[in-house]
Amino acid sequence: MTAPTPDAAGRLTVVLGITGGIAAYKAVGVARAFVVAGHDVHIVATDGALRFVGRPTLEAISRNPVHTDLYEGVAEVRHVALGQRADLIVIAPATAHTVASLAAGLAGDLLGTTVLASSAPLVIAPAMHTEMWEHPATVANIATLRSRGVTIVGPESGRLTGSDAGPGRMAEPEMIVEAALAIVGPRDLVGRSILISAGGTREPLDPVRFLGNRSSGRQGVALARAALARGATVTLVAAHLEVDAPAGATVIEVGTAAELQAAMRDHAAQADTVIMSAAVADFRPVSVADGKIKKDAVGETLSLSLERTPDVLAGLAAARRPGQSIIGFAAETERDDERLLQIGAEKARRKGVDLLVVNRVGWSEGFGSSTNSVMVLDGAGSVVARTEGDKTSVAHRILDLLAQPRIP
Ligand code: CTP
Repeated sequence: MTAPTPDAAGRLTVVLGITGGIAAYKAVGVARAFVVAGHDVHIVATDGALRFVGRPTLEAISRNPVHTDLYEGVAEVRHVALGQRADLIVIAPATAHTVASLAAGLAGDLLGTTVLASSAPLVIAPAMHTEMWEHPATVANIATLRSRGVTIVGPESGRLTGSDAGPGRMAEPEMIVEAALAIVGPRDLVGRSILISAGGTREPLDPVRFLGNRSSGRQGVALARAALARGATVTLVAAHLEVDAPAGATVIEVGTAAELQAAMRDHAAQADTVIMSAAVADFRPVSVADGKIKKDAVGETLSLSLERTPDVLAGLAAARRPGQSIIGFAAETERDDERLLQIGAEKARRKGVDLLVVNRVGWSEGFGSSTNSVMVLDGAGSVVARTEGDKTSVAHRILDLLAQPRIP
């Protein structure tokens, strides 16, 4: 799933799919609530939806043309363009038929192609009669969608269209909008420009070998994604990532510590926050062989001569402009908590950072895993937060500290 990329005002591009059920009249309220919250709403309505609610109403409320036909706007490739542009897709109401189509990945109409062409979060608000909602086919389809990360809001239990009552009534518009916006997170970093390094550098020994480290870049990429979701502009300096960089970030690929340093220096001036989560080589070979090092030419043992690389983080901290925040990471193998804290505090002071995120690494800890356990120290070495969990929630906790007024 791609992180939303709101404009400078924090405005999201929301695609609102409306399908053919009586609850379509309540979709007007959903469109209205998104518009009132300041977002750009593009409605994709099925033919069925337009039997329940008029196109002029939807256009007036959303302030944009309503899209229905797969064969309209073919020259601008509209069947995928809407999905590619979307920061968020909400389908309200989603009929039993729509739920089944989504689960099967059908692309027979404009809403289907829009959803398939998008990596934005998808939120659906099902609405149907209780029997249809409880039918094993619908139950299985909903489970499939949930397993793909789709957020299901409602349905509520209550009076249905006829005289019957039970689960199946579409959730109220405010609830749908609130749930959808909660997924894209708080918008507290709008206007902030964040430079993040992620991954691990590699120092070549010869054309086929390098000295590297086990960093996958997962925590740095999670920070980039979370910062984008909260409205920041993100530049990601990426060293050999094992995971995809978020689409909304400006990505600069680097290989060595020297390349990483150059990229960070070039972009630090435009950033109000710099986060060094990359694992940077501390040493590199003094010389790099032009051709492959041959074992017969070397003998039984090979000694490498290594030299120190520049400390990128300390350099950035020393050159920081007023108001700029510098955040470092420290990956330590120390087992003793007390000693880990001491090492972290000493490192925070030595590097001149505003925050230092300390985590324990080992043969089976930290690297490559989807979870992390960290403590965050301030520049004086005092613990300001401890958190653990998946790397996304750890990223959000670190960004919470940035969003506080104390850290500019
Ligand atoms: N770092 C850096 N440049 C280097 C080495 C590290 O900018 N040449 C940064 C890392 O990105 C991280 C922080 O410094 O944010 C701490 O890295 P770490 O390897 O824990 O610290 P070192 O200063 O290298 O100290 P040591 O390895 O001796 O613990």
